[in-house]
Amino acid sequence: MQLKHLTDHQLSGKRVMLRSDMNVPLKEGIIANEERIDRSLPTIEHILREGGRIVLISHLGRPQETGKVQEEFSLKPVVKCLEEKLNRSIYLTDDLDVVKESSEEFIMLENIRFFKGEKSNDPNLSNKLGSLCDIFVMDAFATSHREHASTTGVVNCVDHACIGFLIKEELEALEHIERAKRPILVVLGGAKISTKLSLINALTEKADHLLLGGGIANTCLGSQGIEIGSSLIESSVYPEAKQMVEKDNVLLPDRVLVARSKESEPREVDVNSLTREDCIFDVSPLYINSLEELFSKAETIIWNGPMGLFEEDRFCSGTQAVADLIASSKAYSVIGGGDTISAVTKTGVVDSINYISTGGGAFLNYLEGKSLPALLALEKKALESLNDET
Ligand code: 3PG
Repeated sequence: MQLKHLTDHQLSGKRVMLRSDMNVPLKEGIIANEERIDRSLPTIEHILREGGRIVLISHLGRPQETGKVQEEFSLKPVVKCLEEKLNRSIYLTDDLDVVKESSEEFIMLENIRFFKGEKSNDPNLSNKLGSLCDIFVMDAFATSHREHASTTGVVNCVDHACIGFLIKEELEALEHIERAKRPILVVLGGAKISTKLSLINALTEKADHLLLGGGIANTCLGSQGIEIGSSLIESSVYPEAKQMVEKDNVLLPDRVLVARSKESEPREVDVNSLTREDCIFDVSPLYINSLEELFSKAETIIWNGPMGLFEEDRFCSGTQAVADLIASSKAYSVIGGGDTISAVTKTGVVDSINYISTGGGAFLNYLEGKSLPALLALEKKALESLNDET
């Protein structure tokens, strides 16, 4: 892809609008994982070092687009965290007129999803954002699959637009996957299968083995007529799930951890011996370990989505087994997705993973071969400016 990079621009004295993805997990107002913030720091530090004045934009969660601040989705915890990391103060505002008038060196705009027109990519909002800066820098890889005012619309409303260090790094790592050495093992978990159907179909073509866990596996097991008790499933997609499971390279657990509720102690059972009262909360680590050879022979391993309710220690052993096998394999390993990053952090294997993508949906879209609208807009812009120069 032909994209302009931040280092192509002189930043001194310029107002630089930086779109980052600081959509971090929050538990009672406390940031549970700072990966996305940490990975955005090189771009922020570069802009400040080069004398640029920053207007930082991010979304957090999925608030109502009311035009008003909703405390639960405020970026205050992110600002506090950034202030500590950068050892400087940041001015937080929800008023675009204040941004226009301000001479502050570092402004953060409140959650962009409070602003009317963000999600509908309204040109009014894009224009307003564009009028606030000399250069727009897109570094929110994790939001690059969204066609929103602050990710794509604004690109057409500025003279200069480019990518930052985070997107550059993501693209280099993901291009590596395109040239991935075989055998390729993909591990796919998480709650929902309905949003991943086309991805799974695409991956069954690309990967040598596709190991399913979490709610995705429950739905596939249920689609085969197996009793899955009160487990998390999406029966509306049973026909598609059934077809998928018939593919030779799809692996479904034959043993799982079940309990009556998430407060009870788990039992390990064969998938054919569940009762109506049982609920699957994890894949059996014994099953995962029985696949040791697949992991050790793989040249590339891609992982998205935990195997079970890993946040509870008693239901983390399937996810832990996957993490340990990836850590001890020689494969080039790539993981992506907020829950997967948390799972890898909890299981203590972060340092053994070759690349951690900050993207969730964006990472999966890329794997599926879909184009990312924000990057397309930037590419178009780069080509236009190339044509203008010639
Ligand atoms: C993510 O967490 O995947 C990104 O921040 C995008 O968030 P969204 O799915 O709410 O658009």
